[in-house]
Amino acid sequence: MTPTTELQKPVIKTALPGPKSLEIINADAQYVTPSYPRPDYKLVADHASGVWITDPDGNVFLDCNAGVAVCSTGHCHPEVVAAITKQANELIHLCGTDFYYRHMPELGKKLSEIVPIDGPTKTHFANSGAEAVETALKLAMYHTRRQKFISFFGSFHGRTLGALSLTSSKKAQRLGFMRQALDVVHVPYPNKFRHFADDMPTTDEKISKDVINWIENRLFKTTTPPEEVAAIVLEVVQGEGGYVPAPKQFVKEIRRICDENGIMLIVDEVQSGMGRTGKMFALDHHEGVKADIVCMAKGIGSGMPIGVCTAKADIMDWHKGAHASTFGGNPVALASALKTIELLEGGLVNNSREIGSYLEFGLNKLKEKYDVIGDVRGLGMMLGVEFVTDKKTLAPAPELRDKIEYACYERGLIILGCGANTIRWSPPLVLSKENVDVALAIFDEAIAACL
Ligand SMILES: Cc1ncc(COP(=O)(O)O)c(C=O)c1O
Repeated sequence: MTPTTELQKPVIKTALPGPKSLEIINADAQYVTPSYPRPDYKLVADHASGVWITDPDGNVFLDCNAGVAVCSTGHCHPEVVAAITKQANELIHLCGTDFYYRHMPELGKKLSEIVPIDGPTKTHFANSGAEAVETALKLAMYHTRRQKFISFFGSFHGRTLGALSLTSSKKAQRLGFMRQALDVVHVPYPNKFRHFADDMPTTDEKISKDVINWIENRLFKTTTPPEEVAAIVLEVVQGEGGYVPAPKQFVKEIRRICDENGIMLIVDEVQSGMGRTGKMFALDHHEGVKADIVCMAKGIGSGMPIGVCTAKADIMDWHKGAHASTFGGNPVALASALKTIELLEGGLVNNSREIGSYLEFGLNKLKEKYDVIGDVRGLGMMLGVEFVTDKKTLAPAPELRDKIEYACYERGLIILGCGANTIRWSPPLVLSKENVDVALAIFDEAIAACL
């Protein structure tokens, strides 16, 4: 593993944001869309390396968000930079949908070896997570000749019109767009910390049983005949919705329902994939359960824009011209992805598991210390800390979460909220034990300062 940098702690030397950062923020307010869901704090990046981000004013932040779970190999990993540079010198673009270059079959072959799908696979390349999901939706409709989908409350699959029909993690994502493009029915996500009936903790077994029962005995017998369902779209660890892992028995049952009814199981690994959970894919934590279609993006390119949809070869059976994209599978992005996977297999997935469990241990210690931490959950380096008013009522504390997020920023730690009242930890997978100690000390101090 490549060491990060010699720097040990954040360095904050101006008021935040500093004067140079403010210039950029003001220009942004004038010229850039206001629709971006930026947090209360304003981080401006100038350059970054490993787990450290430097702003234009020279302040240095410890990054425990990785550009929203994207910079899996750390910022500007030298081997990734070298692979991108080499590729940029050789071939930047040709349009793989009309011509050929080696990177498409190379990455397709590599993915067929590692994705949690049984048997031969084929891969479609796009540019983002939402596009990977669009591909999966179109493919499932095409292959099954069905039109309905089942998605989960709290899920996030992107903001393009098809993916938006699935997305339901926040009202802001839907408000103003009214009628949805696709016929999607939402069911509760199996969140054992908050059972959908009473918002209180329950067991893996009960929440799994209740959601499965909802699907089979409510939906299938009323509004949603299973023979009309093209696919169930599942995040094995729900991301934007709050970093909530699905129980093992639940994922198994979903696979059974799909098998019994000819429904495709689309697993959205856009956020949870590429080593984030301490295994290459979140579904790898569920022994014996495989997907029909897997969506990837974010961490696969170490920051280069790429979206990938891999499916069983006999499912990806559509005709020439059915789905393609000018930039999708751009050779520079694919060169970055090939190098990223090499680095993940070469140690970063293991680091995600080992250092992730060290981080989880530390977060659980803070849970014991603070009454306002209701839950610490997740896998590997995909960890959520849910803030509550107190451990007795477990009432969600979204304002407190936002305050803590801001207090971390002021102290040089970059973390980001997800769900209504959770802070997500999604650091670059190069994070070290020493980085964790620094991050936890800041987190501890920030929580104390906000109470
Ligand atoms: C699980 C999941 N799917 C899809 C997407 C959409 O990806 P993108 O923002 O690249 O379109 C995201 C983004 O956060 C995601 O977390």
